[in-house]
Amino acid sequence: MDRIRIVGGNRLNGTIPISGAKNAALPLMIAGLLSDETLILDNVPRLADVAQLQRILGNHGVDIMSAGKRSGDQQYQGQTLHISAADVIDTTAPYELVSRMRASFWVIAPLLARMHEAKVSLPGGCAIGTRPVDLLIMALERLGAEIAIDGGYVIAKAPGGLKGADIEFPKVTVSGTHVALMAATLAKGTTIISNAACEPEISDVAECLNKMGARVSGAGTPRIVIEGVTKLHGARHAVLPDRIETGTYAMAVTMTGGDVQLSGARPELLQSALDVLTQAGAIITPNNAGIRVARNGAGVGPVNVSTAPFPGFPTDLQAQLMALMACASGCSQITETIFENRFMHVQELARFGARISLDGETATIDGIAKLRGAPVMATDLRASVSLVIAGLAAEGETMVNRVYHLDRGFERLEEKLSGCGASIQRISD
Ligand code: EPZ
Repeated sequence: MDRIRIVGGNRLNGTIPISGAKNAALPLMIAGLLSDETLILDNVPRLADVAQLQRILGNHGVDIMSAGKRSGDQQYQGQTLHISAADVIDTTAPYELVSRMRASFWVIAPLLARMHEAKVSLPGGCAIGTRPVDLLIMALERLGAEIAIDGGYVIAKAPGGLKGADIEFPKVTVSGTHVALMAATLAKGTTIISNAACEPEISDVAECLNKMGARVSGAGTPRIVIEGVTKLHGARHAVLPDRIETGTYAMAVTMTGGDVQLSGARPELLQSALDVLTQAGAIITPNNAGIRVARNGAGVGPVNVSTAPFPGFPTDLQAQLMALMACASGCSQITETIFENRFMHVQELARFGARISLDGETATIDGIAKLRGAPVMATDLRASVSLVIAGLAAEGETMVNRVYHLDRGFERLEEKLSGCGASIQRISD
């Protein structure tokens, strides 16, 4: 199993290209199931989760062609996928495939909308909480689906097709919003989603669906209106830049010191995180090519932050911020309000000497002057990268074990960081 070795202490200077967003690419690929024509997606990141979803879609009969490199392509440019679901040959998504990645459960929406039936295994994914699917099922039932759970599978049927409905989510859910949105595009009549998630990845999917002929308005606000259509057609869409990757590298620079241009990043996708970093002492300058992040070497200031749905501070940057606060000049508090069990990085950060205590959903971090490198274990995707950024700032050597989590969500992490002067290598045993 691969490991990552880091010798900390180098400042980061240079340019890091930001990849397409994993959490937009996955639902966009799934949206390809809604049409019998080809959906072309540009700027798709090369990630283990994308490859896994290709296998899952392949099992339904979807043909996915990855366009080769063209002259003039940049080293880090994302791939172009041609997704063609002309014949859906199987409406079952089996346990062996779905249990590895939670987002693959979302195939239930296009299968039900277009084929009027789906049998999908209950999902797996990162161990960051219980992560139920009750709200996704509620949304599909509102749209007229009959749903049964049997043998670990959700079996959904809508013999006469789905019907538009009012769907009000009792709590903000990204997965629930994606599923309701995709399913409603082919339902008869109008659907109104209230208390919808406003994450930029939802807007990106809605924009792509509209290019495919859907009639969606209000995406990016808590009220989305969808006028159902009978058919969607092919389209071409580029995946938006990854705001979590952007925030992660911005935190790494704030922690190590240095001056890095995050090329292709869009500040409006993570304003709340950039504000927190400014408060902590980073100098953030949006420019034409992306976002420049610099820190002049003065100590990192402590901050108090609660995670919240967009436009609040994202839960997917909570672990990275905790690594940063581990060497702030004072005491910080971070409260996790989205997932109840997303603190597995705390015990690993303690191996670097970090002083963190937990009380329910709040972590109190007593900053220390210097972290010290240590062998650590990656647990989930974002927790893993928090260990990498702690290692970059720590004195001495850090070995991050079990890095397959990182490969699920960070494209060429060690290349991007070593290109800016970090001492970081992958060791394959
Ligand atoms: C998405 O997960 C992201 N995944 C997560 O990123 C991200 O952390 C999360 O949104 C929050 O921003 C993808 O986009 C693939 P939710 P999702 O539905 O959609 C509860 C990463 O590291 N809930 O918004 O699964 C749920 O338990 C991943 O890239 C129900 O109670 O999150 C949680 O407490 C990790 N019932 C809250 O809602 C349901 O039916 C928000 O979950 C569904 C959700």
